[in-house]
Amino acid sequence: MQKYRLTLLVLLLLSLNLLLTGCAEEAQTMQSAIEIPEDEVDPKVWGQKFPNHYDSYLKNSERTKRYSKYRSDGEDRLSPWPFQFILANGWGMGVEYNEPNGHTDMLKDQLKVDAKRKSSGGVCLTCKTPYAPKLKEELGEDYFKKPYKEVHAKIPKKHQELGLTCIDCHDPKTMDLRISRWTLKEGLKAIGKDPEKLTRQEMRTLVCAQCHVTYSIVKNKEGKSVGVKFPWANGKWGNISIEGIVKQIQDENLREWKHKITGQKLGHVRHPEFELFTAPGSVHWAANVACADCHMPYERVGSQKISSHRWESPFKKKMKPCMQCHNQTEDWLKTQVTNIQDRTNHNFTKAGYAVAEAALTIEAALKTPGIDMDLIKKAQRTYEQAYLRVTFIGAENSMGFHNPPEAMRILTDALAQGKEVTQMARDAIYKAGGTPPDFDPDKIDRIVRERFTTKDGKTGFRPDAPRKAATLD
Ligand code: HEC
Ligand code: HEC
Ligand code: HEC
Ligand code: HEC
Repeated sequence: MQKYRLTLLVLLLLSLNLLLTGCAEEAQTMQSAIEIPEDEVDPKVWGQKFPNHYDSYLKNSERTKRYSKYRSDGEDRLSPWPFQFILANGWGMGVEYNEPNGHTDMLKDQLKVDAKRKSSGGVCLTCKTPYAPKLKEELGEDYFKKPYKEVHAKIPKKHQELGLTCIDCHDPKTMDLRISRWTLKEGLKAIGKDPEKLTRQEMRTLVCAQCHVTYSIVKNKEGKSVGVKFPWANGKWGNISIEGIVKQIQDENLREWKHKITGQKLGHVRHPEFELFTAPGSVHWAANVACADCHMPYERVGSQKISSHRWESPFKKKMKPCMQCHNQTEDWLKTQVTNIQDRTNHNFTKAGYAVAEAALTIEAALKTPGIDMDLIKKAQRTYEQAYLRVTFIGAENSMGFHNPPEAMRILTDALAQGKEVTQMARDAIYKAGGTPPDFDPDKIDRIVRERFTTKDGKTGFRPDAPRKAATLD
């Protein structure tokens, strides 16, 4: 019965959708005298034709504290899970990693962060400025390679702080959704999906996948950035698995940084919302639900109904996006999300500490005289597998909600791999005649406090940050 009602609702919603687009078109004709030039970047100009959308868009700079258990604007994203300082030691994010702000402030935020995090060069601008495609076209390889500051200075003065904007997602003539980033077009081709043949519902997810995906920065022999790619070559539409991503990072040596604790070069995983959401196990993806359904619900503004252009957590919208399809209460919906997140966090915490223990045991092994480096190399390779899995879930922004069973599967493997690495490194220490150290989460927390406690209040471990690493037992 429940299911039947839901299907009916989905159907209703789809027809409503058509109606709504109708409404929006009416609104459009009202101001149809205004023509938006083909390459118009300035959202103010688009706003003259679509004032309600522009108002909604401007709200992205508003901030909310602690709206859900695992998200809070302006909060440190590393300190609540101390083990992350061990895993990320040597990576730019290990220096400073704050809860992101909204889309309108994303370039401003990037300008503020520690220079070490932008050492890769202009490539860092790919997701932060609407000028990225143009700059890449004009500068070629220099766009990726040249220092961040130098490439940033090429953005017209008045838009040097402009974040996500209309032209990133829309064709100004037709207002159709459009993919502006070459990276996603290449990524889609890699999974056998034609970027020119996409349905409207697919586009309601894919405009987001221009940025909410993992990517690798391709480096040349001198370690300079020469490109950016989505490591999707082993994936398929609807199944870009962590296994395939890790394999490509290893096969193509897409390693970008050196981990100081295990002494090896590693790849990285960044915000893989699209990959997790579309992988098998996601009931919502299977039911043809798009990112925009949950993050851009329809809302009434005066006599017009628009898709909200305030991209934020459904918690901030009192779960209204969910109620387009679900007939339960706000409380019930919130509880379901929190239950899923608590359980993901339980496994994330266990896996995170297990992988940190693995790193620290390798560190001890490397300091043991006469250690068999072949054994250590084997341990390091499995460590890379475990590290990328923990990071996949840690960097994914929904704490498991986008695909609960897949998040659990990935963390279960990370936990087992972490334990395996610790055993391998311990065996190597015994073989060299040493005594391996023992670790537990309390001891790891102490090590983090000793080694990483902040000196400037900005970077490093903040002991006063609310702790979120937790298990349910
Ligand atoms: C991150 C991508 C993205 C950006 C940036 C964006 N939009 Fe949209 N917009 C969408 C999506 C998704 C829809 C829903 C389209 C659909 O259902 O076919 C939409 C729909 C619309 C519509 C159609 C009516 C409606 O509400 O569904 C208008 C008009 C519109 N946007 C205007 C704007 C304006 C003006 C800006 C800049 C201030 C902007 N958009 C920025 C993604 C975006
Ligand atoms: C051009 C790149 C880009 C596109 C396209 C994009 N995003 Fe984002 N999004 C970001 C970045 C970057 C952040 C983090 C903002 C920051 O760093 O301040 C973010 C943050 C968010 C947040 C958190 C906002 C907050 O206030 O906490 C949500 C939710 C979100 N995006 C959803 C979406 C959805 C849904 C779409 C598609 C309709 C989309 N994004 C399209 C780059 C993008
Ligand atoms: C079925 C609804 C649903 C769909 C579909 C969905 N999300 Fe989410 N998303 C959520 C929920 C629930 C959260 C957790 C919010 C929280 O903890 O506050 C979330 C969290 C996020 C966040 C972090 C928000 C924040 O406040 O920091 C981002 C970014 C995000 N989603 C992007 C996406 C993208 C991109 C897609 C499509 C690939 C997508 N979501 C699809 C429901 C959905
Ligand atoms: C566009 C429609 C749509 C939206 C929006 C939507 N859902 Fe769903 N949801 C579904 C469908 C369809 C199912 C599958 C139901 C079934 O087959 O029984 C589902 C299933 C679920 C389930 C059960 C999942 C499972 O693993 O069994 C939960 C929990 C859920 N949704 C929560 C949410 C929350 C929370 C939101 C808002 C953040 C949301 N949904 C938004 C359509 C939607």
